[in-house]
Parts: sequence; C-alpha cells; structure tokens
Amino acid sequence: MEKPKILIDTDPGVDDALAILMAHRHADVVGLTIAAGNVGLAHTTANALKLVEVIGASTPVFAGCATPLVAQPPEDAAFVHGLDGFGDTGYTHSARSTENEPAAQAILRLSHEHAGKLVIVALAPLTNLALALRLDPELPSRVARLVVMGGAVNGRGNTTVSAEFNIGFDPEAAHIVFSEWPQIELADWELTVRHGIDFDTVARWVRADHPIARFFDAISRKTRAWSQERGRPQLALADPLAMAVALQPDIARHTQEHHVAIALDGLARGATIVDWDDRGDARTNARIVMDVDQARFEALCASALGAG
Ligand code: RIB
Ligand code: CA
Repeated sequence: MEKPKILIDTDPGVDDALAILMAHRHADVVGLTIAAGNVGLAHTTANALKLVEVIGASTPVFAGCATPLVAQPPEDAAFVHGLDGFGDTGYTHSARSTENEPAAQAILRLSHEHAGKLVIVALAPLTNLALALRLDPELPSRVARLVVMGGAVNGRGNTTVSAEFNIGFDPEAAHIVFSEWPQIELADWELTVRHGIDFDTVARWVRADHPIARFFDAISRKTRAWSQERGRPQLALADPLAMAVALQPDIARHTQEHHVAIALDGLARGATIVDWDDRGDARTNARIVMDVDQARFEALCASALGAG
C-alpha cells in the first residue's frame, strides 16, 4: 500500500523531532516547512536541516515566517527545549541549506503536486499555513487531511492559563486557519497530557543501539530533566501524538465534531473555544480527538527511534 504523502509544518523543538522521525519511518515526507515558535526561526531551521541529515533523508526544508502575523512574538519555549531548541548539545550544523522557496509558497506548490493525497501535519504556530491560505483560499480543496497539534479544548493551557503554545504564539494565524479550513483533525494539549509516556519508557527507548536513538537521547535530555524536575508524572509528547493520528487515523478511538473558535483578545487570548453543545450557527470545523490507543501510540514512537 502506498505510504501517505505528508508535509510537516514544524518548529523543531524536541517533540517535533520525534514526530518528524515517526513520519520518515512510516510515510513519504514531501517537505518540512519551518516556523518560529519553540525557538527562533534560525534555530528551528538549523534543527530541521540537522535532523534530516541524521535521518539520512533528502527531504527539502523550507524556511517560513520569523514572526507571528500580527502581534509581537510572546515568550518562546526555550526553557523547555533548550536555547537552540535541541537541548543545547552544540551539535555540528548540517552543511545543507534550506530551499530558496518560502514555506507558504512551498505549501501551495506541494498541494498542487500531490493534489487530493497530501496530508498536512501542523506541529507549530499556524503562521505559514495562514499565509498560504491568504495567498490561495482554494488550498484546502487540494489537501486530503489537515492534522493540527494545538489548542486546549477545555481551557487548560500550557503557555497561559487557557492557551496552548502553538495557538497562543500566533492567535491571528490560528483564527484564519480555523475559520477557513473545512475540517481540522485536532490533537490538543489536554489529549497530550492524558496520553503522556512514562519517563522510564522513554529512557529505555533512547538506550536503543541506534544512531537516531542516541541523537534523540542527546537533544531530549534537557526537556526530560526539566519535565521531571517540575514534577510532571509523565513526558508530554504533543507533536508525536498528533503525528500518530496522522499516520494511523484509526488510532483515535473517540472523536467529537464541533465548532472551534480562537479567542483573540483579553485574558483568554489564544484559547480554543469549543461549542460543545453546538449552540451556535457556525459550522463544525474540527474533529477533536478525545482518546487514542496508547499502546499503538507508544509503538510508533519506539519504532521511530529504532527501539521497537
Ligand atoms: O504545546 C505544545 C506545542 O508547542 C508542541 O508543538 C511543541 O513543539 C510546541 O511547539
Ligand atoms: Ca512543535
């Protein structure tokens, strides 16, 4: 059976890295479009180029927007991922460079080249995707699936009280995507927390005798230590969970379809507001993943590291 054709919009980032590894193991990755988010665009781009080199792939990397569409960028997530976004290991940068084509333009071109088959997996602030939508509102008609890691469907955010990082970093971009995309498959932060992975399990995976496991061990060490020091019960792997949904749609055992809006102002800026009782007239725009098969999720992560 033909592997799914996946375009990943990403801000590597440690959890992005594992998601990208999963995609290269189980799918045909047609490109990585890079956003600013976890750390600045120069780092997220360099990290993507390094990861593709470690994988031994020829996946093209396209640099995107260095800032959110409108507002000044809020705090990044360097405190989670390291100042360079990859655990500050001082790795030797890849000799490769990004393509000359900007990310938004690459998204549109690849949507034509793989029309009807392309699966876009959005693991970062939605800046690039929003820009692509503004350039060509017909983009969704050529894309088979859009899977988004983002939001906190009951308001338990991770970057503010009610906002999850990817949405909170560029709420205007998220508003554009959620307003104009017919249906988004949404893997939110609260799902991620429900499907955390034991630290011992991850420690076992990264001890696998495989260069990719050793690379991920190094870049994730700071993030794993930070999570444990903060007393988190398990490691939250947000992007890998969204990627698992993209790779194996039936891994989602329970979903609900509702309208999701993005709050742009006030205390709740960046929140994902779900019409759980379908009270409003707005169309359903999101299939919210409520539960996944944990064993299959962990197996996909392990196999990406050569550990399963
Ligand atoms: O809130 C988690 C999301 O924000 C993940 O995509 C992580 O990589 C960060 O970008
Ligand atoms: Ca990310």
